[in-house]
Amino acid sequence: MFTFYSKNAFSPNTNEINECFLVLIPLLSYILLIFEPHLLVQMKREKIADILSASEIGKSVLIKGWVRAFRSNRFIQVNDGSTIKNIQAVVDFENFDEAILKRVTTASAVAITGELVESVGAGQAVEIKVTNIDILGDANPDEVQKTVMQPKKHSLEFLREQAHLRFRTNTFGAVFRIRHAVSFAVHKYFNDNGFNYIHTPIITGSDAEGAGEMFRVSTLDAKNPPLNEDGEVDYKEDFFGKPVNLTVSGQLEAELAALALGQVYTFGPTFRAENSNTSRHLAEFWMIEPEVAFNDLKDNMDLTETFLKYICQYILDNCKDDLQFLNDREEKEQQSKPQIERNELTLIERLKFVTENDFVRLTYTEAIDVLRNSKPFKKKKFKYDVAWGVDLHSEHERYLVEKKYKCPVILTDYPAEIKAFYMRQNDDGKTVAAMDVLFPGIGEIVGGSQREERLDILKKKFADFNIPEEDLAWYIDTRKFGTVPHAGFGLGFERMVMFVTGMTNIRDVIPFPRTPQNAEF
Ligand code: 4AD
Ligand code: MG
Repeated sequence: MFTFYSKNAFSPNTNEINECFLVLIPLLSYILLIFEPHLLVQMKREKIADILSASEIGKSVLIKGWVRAFRSNRFIQVNDGSTIKNIQAVVDFENFDEAILKRVTTASAVAITGELVESVGAGQAVEIKVTNIDILGDANPDEVQKTVMQPKKHSLEFLREQAHLRFRTNTFGAVFRIRHAVSFAVHKYFNDNGFNYIHTPIITGSDAEGAGEMFRVSTLDAKNPPLNEDGEVDYKEDFFGKPVNLTVSGQLEAELAALALGQVYTFGPTFRAENSNTSRHLAEFWMIEPEVAFNDLKDNMDLTETFLKYICQYILDNCKDDLQFLNDREEKEQQSKPQIERNELTLIERLKFVTENDFVRLTYTEAIDVLRNSKPFKKKKFKYDVAWGVDLHSEHERYLVEKKYKCPVILTDYPAEIKAFYMRQNDDGKTVAAMDVLFPGIGEIVGGSQREERLDILKKKFADFNIPEEDLAWYIDTRKFGTVPHAGFGLGFERMVMFVTGMTNIRDVIPFPRTPQNAEF
């Protein structure tokens, strides 16, 4: 029988000992609670961002993060990714286990317990008076020396080589927190405005843009593919029974959904096998494509402008610390440049400029006139010719935005030949209801149009562009069953992130860039 609680089990002597414990145990617990709380209660880890914003002096806290620096065997700077700010943890090294302190090195992972106190030093309002340090993961200082985690200035090129480690730097921490915020703002804007998020396919049989820059997806044996009677690769034997590719745009599928749900958007990865090794092109990038039934080109421009302003305002309101860091970083870089090459506005001023000013709107034809009358054209400073009918190059777009109007520009009504087959033909018979949005420092950030909703004209376009109707029979179908005017656009997500972070190379705003000859990690 279990008799522990029965009266008989206790003698008078043991009663006295028990009384002693009754006093001692709470006393010991109290002492522990004050001085070594982590030994007594399972403390909950708090994020550094939350601790710094609440600043509850005297509170016991547990943080976990990575050591950014350890100065004078006393001041540990810890970052946990929740904010660009480090928290300072102060150790009384004379009374601390030396073996543990030796392992507190740059990049090592630690769990630190202590009391939050007001900081006497400059640079931070509060700091942690350390009571305990657990090493969660060691970092070998000799190895760290060779990486971007060594706390000193590194070139962006070197950081790109270590894309798996660059997340640990202030710059990339800020960039990727802002990238997240832009993504969230996109979904929030559309959700708040009654759009439905449509997941369009990544593997597709159609080339939406008709530019033929697609990556083939196949399970056929590349060395020994099955051949048809004509000696060509027999895709009937391939996984899908026909040739398929990675999508270049979700637009065509989004159109189908818009013609039922009214307002939709896609936001997914897109792939382009264009061999352009520029600071604005990726082979794998993300695109946001809204599509709205009953919208014409004017509505489309209004939606684009409101949406881009919303994203800039969202970042100004919600990413203050990261934005300020990138703003100051850019200002420092600018100082090493000749006056003429410096930005007129700082990063934050540029975002405010977008939110506070109307975009300039003009037609392609007007833009050609402006360009032909410009100084660089007359002095033959442009590399590419300017004449009605040619596609504009980045140098022309940047002249319009950065020199002439000093403002985002929406160019509309391009010649039909230089734009995709789905754009709506204008009454002049020469141009289509296209629109490109050009941004300072970026060039084209958005491409869109009103779509050709008239069946007969669409069919003629298929013929003009040599696209077999059977390839896109499902697309043509929508023009047979209650076709209506509709419009949409594509925003290059990384180009938007470039604009709001001030980064000048697109490889620095996507975690793992894919460019020609480069698919590392
Ligand atoms: O102008 P694009 O080719 O338009 C379309 O794909 C349409 N289907 C969009 C639509 O109307 N739904 O591409 C749209 C945007 C460009 O303005 C640019 O910002 C970005 O996508 N973009 C790229 N970004 C990074 N790397 C590349 N290779 C890009 N190509 C286009
Ligand atoms: Mg385009």
